[in-house]
Amino acid sequence: MASLDTEITRRRTFAIISHPDAGKTTLTEKLLLFGGAIQMAGAVKARGDRRRAVHSDWLKVERERGISVASSVMSYEFDGNAFNLLDTPGHEDFSEDTYRTLTAVDSAVMVIDAARGIQEQTRKLFEVCRLRDMPIITFINKMDREAQDPFDLLDEIEQTLQIEVTPASWPIGMGQLFKGCYDLLSDRLMLVEKGSHNAPDAGLTCDGLDDPKLDELLPAGVVAELREQVMMVRGLCPQFSVQPFLEGNLTPVYFGSAINNFGVRELLRGISSFAPSPRPQPSETRKVDPAEDKVSAFVFKIQANMDAKHRDRIAFARVCSGHFKRGMKLKHVRSGKQINVHNALMFLARERELAEEAFPGDIIGIPNHGNLRIGDALTEGEALRFNGIPSFAPELLQRVRPMDPMRAKHLGRAVTQLAEEGVARVFRTNIGSNWIVGVVGTLQFEVLADRIRTEYDIPVMFEAAALHTARWVNGDDPAEVKRFVDKNPGDLAYDHDDLPVFLARNGWHLQHTIEAWPNVQLLKIREQTA
Ligand code: G4P
Repeated sequence: MASLDTEITRRRTFAIISHPDAGKTTLTEKLLLFGGAIQMAGAVKARGDRRRAVHSDWLKVERERGISVASSVMSYEFDGNAFNLLDTPGHEDFSEDTYRTLTAVDSAVMVIDAARGIQEQTRKLFEVCRLRDMPIITFINKMDREAQDPFDLLDEIEQTLQIEVTPASWPIGMGQLFKGCYDLLSDRLMLVEKGSHNAPDAGLTCDGLDDPKLDELLPAGVVAELREQVMMVRGLCPQFSVQPFLEGNLTPVYFGSAINNFGVRELLRGISSFAPSPRPQPSETRKVDPAEDKVSAFVFKIQANMDAKHRDRIAFARVCSGHFKRGMKLKHVRSGKQINVHNALMFLARERELAEEAFPGDIIGIPNHGNLRIGDALTEGEALRFNGIPSFAPELLQRVRPMDPMRAKHLGRAVTQLAEEGVARVFRTNIGSNWIVGVVGTLQFEVLADRIRTEYDIPVMFEAAALHTARWVNGDDPAEVKRFVDKNPGDLAYDHDDLPVFLARNGWHLQHTIEAWPNVQLLKIREQTA
């Protein structure tokens, strides 16, 4: 039987971050293709559908939700290593889900469109990775199109993201003249041959850049330019070294064209050889080392099951330590109850199968009826609380009402369950017991209305609530918090965990309250620990 240490060492759990349209889906597909997990391109997602869904047609968003369950985690093998690629929703309205997913990975691949450079969503997601000192590998995609100058791109990454960059490969031409790349880490010439992903070991090993083979294979002007540019970039950028990369201070940059399978193998090799295996996971009391005997895991994502009429959900849990075996009894720390985990799922590209065993870094899907929530810890007995699963204060707030007032009570149950899934924030007002729903993107209101109607049979309407934002009420002195709560009954609501939340009517109201209550904190982010 494989030892725990060996299994930990060969695990790579990562996510791809990018701005929509940079090529995340294409790259995911190609990684799976090269990893042998799928047989042909086009199998990961209905891409066109997904894009049209962005234009706020909830039916299609619904379909995307179905698809995203199937592809939330994709596991495959390459080079003897076991990869878990966690999908992050592309549309910015769902970015909170993305943030949570990033708590469950050990590294990230940042995909950048070579013509567009760093875009808004890339920057935001990068910041989240930075907060966790997460190692990031950069893939500059679409080199087969007219792209920005590679020096400018490196400079932009360095300046905008404040991270050191070093090229792992160097592009030879671009657009129609894109010939391939020179692999700077292993001195190989990689030439574009369309559809060549089946070649067992593409590329030609060179004896450095002065190797005469380069002169035979490339036109004189091209090879001269390559030598000159590489010399320059080697003078400008630090040499690649694993330690600063692992600390999140240096990103190796690959150039490629995912759609043409170009650069993908080098990227995979990079993840395989220097991306970290599972790291110790911080908890409130201590760091949990993956090699510990006892199994521990935390839930970072909840998805309603494909069958909308059943309240079955899948809780996605990252194994943090130990060797999980099917049928194990784990303690659900928040409730103190034992759970017999006999039907957990593993995800292999498009298929799921029963998880007979799992190791640190692996993601298991645990079907349940709502008892598991985001942030929950599962252990073999220890009362661990894992840190760092954020919950963001929503900036868009609306009141939700049932069309049929008799169904108000049922609506409460529906919205609470959806809040537990992490789909939206739900606040019950202190006075009048109205339900306020908070989201980060408007599209979520439509998705919610549709889900409440189809899954709970309650047609609802959303109404403007004239609210500016919500803030979790906190403070070192419980008496002061209580005083705040008692003095502001009209502006108070409670979230699905019954924690008090301040609802600000406008920017001034928020500011004024902050100033008037210096010993109370009004928090934008609430870290969810069980
Ligand atoms: P996303 O998940 O980050 O949103 O991006 P996605 O992979 O869906 O790619 C966005 C568009 O960019 C797609 O084109 C895709 O084919 C194209 N693309 C991806 N990689 C490359 C590349 O290396 N070179 C070039 N030239 N294009 C690339 P689309 O026309 O919008 O969609 P589709 O009809 O091709 O699916």
